[in-house]
Amino acid sequence: DKGNHRHFMEKEIHEQPEVISHTLAHYLDFAQGGIRELEMPFDFAAIDRLSVSACGTAYLAGLIGKYWFERYARLPVDIDIASEFRYREMPLSPMSAALFVSQSGETADTLASLRYCKSAGVPIGSIVNVRDSTIARESDGIFPTLAGPEIGVASTKAFTCQLSIFAALAVRAAIERKTVSAEESARLVRALSEAPRFASLALKVEERIEEIARELAQVHHVLYLGRDTNYPLAMEGALKLKEISYIHAEGYAAGELKHGPIALIDKQMPVIVIAPHDRIFDKTVSNMQEVAARGGRIILITDSEGAARASLDGIQTIIMPTVPEFIAPIIYAIPVQMLAYHTAVVMGTDVDQPRNLAKSVTVE
Ligand code: F6R
Repeated sequence: DKGNHRHFMEKEIHEQPEVISHTLAHYLDFAQGGIRELEMPFDFAAIDRLSVSACGTAYLAGLIGKYWFERYARLPVDIDIASEFRYREMPLSPMSAALFVSQSGETADTLASLRYCKSAGVPIGSIVNVRDSTIARESDGIFPTLAGPEIGVASTKAFTCQLSIFAALAVRAAIERKTVSAEESARLVRALSEAPRFASLALKVEERIEEIARELAQVHHVLYLGRDTNYPLAMEGALKLKEISYIHAEGYAAGELKHGPIALIDKQMPVIVIAPHDRIFDKTVSNMQEVAARGGRIILITDSEGAARASLDGIQTIIMPTVPEFIAPIIYAIPVQMLAYHTAVVMGTDVDQPRNLAKSVTVE
């Protein structure tokens, strides 16, 4: 049931404050400001590497998770798309653990990667939305996303719930590996517990997004840029645009711009930049200046501080609430999803059932 929404995707985008809250309640102890005792398939303090594999949007959640695990818990993460991992004959250390991410829990390549790790004797955890799925059953332990059924083919709410779990697990790993102080971990948990409220605020930029979507619907190519955790988000934005609006889009690390993609910039090419005002904001501003100097059109998704500091001629901004840096990817995922959604609606494509795509990819 779509309720009063036009598409499942729209409904699922709007459900995010609620399902993120639901998911977080499973992992966080809001009252104590800590992480709940969970049954764990492995011990973060006893491993020296974590292998993550998944496909598509779930893979991009894992890529953001990598930044968090490495930054806060000092735990190195190897991440790969499952279709590569399964044939790559990666040597696995007995001191490692593996984590798989899948909404459906049935993705063939992700399952094959899981079985590869299992045969190497590595303990397996998985972040899954469908609890009685094959990937859930074959794991030593599961971390459920409580997103509820996701019907739209393009993943939205499952993604932000996967991110919420990665954030909670990274804090837990940081506590167990003693890489953060009690004060720092309490600060991270507090920030994370605010994610549902900020997600509600993020939904309020929808009207602005609709204006920009009307222009995006006229173009054939889009470049998405971001740094740090906004880099995987740039790739997610490009993936969503391709999937449902069929506009060719590419997501790049902002710093890679001058190593190739800058050659594409002209007056026709919109460049969407995801850049909350954070510690590396100025680096991204210099990339925007490079785009502006070549006549490129910039659409900047930022907060009010970022908008004030990046006053370039002709720039269009989408102004987000000011959020703690730790949870920014969870919140900035929302405008990125809405941009793809509204562009597709303007173009009149089949948003919930895009051509050539299936919700669950059970063949390789
Ligand atoms: C993108 C999308 C796909 C899935 C991918 C993995 O919007 O939905 O890229 O994320 O097919 O599917 P699961 O998570 O079911 O393993």
